[in-house]
Amino acid sequence: MGRQATVLLLFFLQIATSQPQTRGDWDIHSFHVNTTVTCRYAITVITSHVFNRNDNSTEIDFHVKIPKRAFISKFRMTIDGRIYDGVVKPKEEARQQYNTAVSRGQSGGLVSAVGRTLEDFKTSVSVAAHSKVTFELTYEELLQRRLGNYELLINAQPGQPVKDFKIDVSLYEKPGINFLQVEGSLATNDLGSAITKSHVDEKAWVKFYPTQDQQITCDGCGENGLSGDLKIIFDVERPHSKGDIREYGGFFVHYFAPTGLPRIPKNVVFVVDQSGSMAGKKIEQTRTALLKILGDLAEDDHFGLICFDDRISPWKRELVRATEQNLEKAKEFVRTITERGATDINAAVLEGVKMIKKSHKEDAASILILLTDGDPTSGETRPERIQSNVREAIGKRFPLYCLGFGFDVNFEFLQKMAQENDGVARRIYEESDAALQLKGFYEEVAVPLLTSVQMSYRGAANLTQTSFSYYYNGSEIVVAGQITDINDFSTEVIGISTDSKVTYSGVEPIDDDKLPAEMSGFENFLQRLWACLKVKQLLEKELVLTGEEKEALRKEALDLSLKYSFVTPLTSMVVTKPEGEDSQVANKPKEGDKSADDAEREYRKSITFLSKTSFTKKGKVMRMLHEGKYVFHLLKYILGL
Ligand SMILES: *[C@@H]1O[C@H](CO)[C@@H](O)[C@H](O)[C@H]1NC(C)=O
Ligand SMILES: *[C@@H]1O[C@H](CO)[C@@H](O)[C@H](O)[C@H]1NC(C)=O
Ligand SMILES: *[C@@H]1O[C@H](CO)[C@@H](O)[C@H](O)[C@H]1NC(C)=O
Repeated sequence: MGRQATVLLLFFLQIATSQPQTRGDWDIHSFHVNTTVTCRYAITVITSHVFNRNDNSTEIDFHVKIPKRAFISKFRMTIDGRIYDGVVKPKEEARQQYNTAVSRGQSGGLVSAVGRTLEDFKTSVSVAAHSKVTFELTYEELLQRRLGNYELLINAQPGQPVKDFKIDVSLYEKPGINFLQVEGSLATNDLGSAITKSHVDEKAWVKFYPTQDQQITCDGCGENGLSGDLKIIFDVERPHSKGDIREYGGFFVHYFAPTGLPRIPKNVVFVVDQSGSMAGKKIEQTRTALLKILGDLAEDDHFGLICFDDRISPWKRELVRATEQNLEKAKEFVRTITERGATDINAAVLEGVKMIKKSHKEDAASILILLTDGDPTSGETRPERIQSNVREAIGKRFPLYCLGFGFDVNFEFLQKMAQENDGVARRIYEESDAALQLKGFYEEVAVPLLTSVQMSYRGAANLTQTSFSYYYNGSEIVVAGQITDINDFSTEVIGISTDSKVTYSGVEPIDDDKLPAEMSGFENFLQRLWACLKVKQLLEKELVLTGEEKEALRKEALDLSLKYSFVTPLTSMVVTKPEGEDSQVANKPKEGDKSADDAEREYRKSITFLSKTSFTKKGKVMRMLHEGKYVFHLLKYILGL
């Protein structure tokens, strides 16, 4: 009880010291969001003009949310005609130079993770009485095709009604945009009339210009103005199955997403954590998702189900065909899955690998999916050993996807394990739609169309990743690079369809020398797209390397981040302010790192959990460990470490 009381005290202390959200004594004269998308590369500029109407100098906040997948590339403040530009530096250098300034500041950094899709960017600056400040933030991202479309997410919550409020999105996609839809909380009834969209062939525009009145009266709005998201969802025409190549300024990008191929039957094994920590909603949502997923298997698919805690409980020892009868039996089994003991990831995944290998068929695509919500706590518990065991067992024969459910997973461990085995790791957020998130992930890998896809280019260099284990329906393979000899430029894609090799060659690059007027100022977008993709891939690869190899990739990623001024996990942006104010440092939050907000949210959750659940001995120990972690995070936060 003593421990609980301490934690509670710290918790309230923390609430008391956090700043209340009040509307500041300033007027936002304008709030503009401009996004330009071309070749799926989105560059967004948020500009806000603010006036201090106080008779005294005032600390003015700038607080926006940006997509997690984006890199910040510019931040500028203009105060009384003076410009203060953020400067991107190697993270280590920024940390050493500005450590003192940052630790004196009230929070750890300018950017923090706020959840599933967004990051918070927050700064403030002191502005003299009756003076103005302009904030300008630019971020960039390569939109990724999922389930047949791209989604551009724009968040807006200026904190007060703004007279001149505009969101402008322009899209330019050769060879044409085939549909365009606007969704999100800002696209609802009351505000629907503030949206206009138009779409002609390869160009489209979305404008969102709500009046000040609308910003006050809309559903969920008030004196703090509106707050919400716009989602622009679109897809592009694909006239050639061999893909499209765009060329500009010495760089190219190749989009490959053939349709019209037959689906390849799957061998899919689900390895599902049923340890004690899955108790309650998580296990319920997992059951719901599995039932739906089973319902979607095709009859020529084969599947396996393995539940695990400290013991392994396969439904059947071997893969079975997805006949109606087998599916019914599997569903019965799924309904009986309940939470039990500790977590033996090693044994469970190895059992899954064995199952797939035993019934290996040449003309099927094998997929292993691990769902877990915790660290390995039973059997082999050393992450490095589990990784090497799994890597050896799989031997690059099929991909492993790792789904981390909730916040107690060692996400980096899952990322490494997936990365080493040609898969990806995803986070499943512990929210009411977790079952949908699980199903959504499964749908992305539900229809393999090609395996062993190899993309080759002549007359080009500095290519991004060119080999891909699988190509799934609804996704897209993207390769970018530098053109070294346009007269000798040629392409070839080889992949394996149901039973035969397929080759696509000779894609004609579309020369984009005439960009539309909307694109002025973004002329080097293709080079930036290449750099953005390259940095992301280098960081993924680097994760599973060690020693000199790791250092070499890190250096390459760092150099590119600096050259294009991207705020990536290796760089920081130092924001220098007028004299007398401390500089601040913007870092890219790491997926899986718990920021103070997370600790608070988790702690709240654990309190609710505490009051609802009775514990086994094992549960008690785990809970104490968790509490220790929260105390540590809260202390860290309070002391501003
Ligand atoms: C934003 O977009 C509008 C319309 O396309 C354009 O007139 C304006 O100059 C843009 N503003 C910025 C800051 O790029
Ligand atoms: C402005 O500053 C003066 C002197 O520092 C102080 O007396 C006054 O209360 C302040 N006014 C406001 C509105 O904060
Ligand atoms: C792939 O997806 C498209 C569009 O969603 C669909 O029309 C097509 O039938 C799918 N292909 C297969 C083999 O399922």
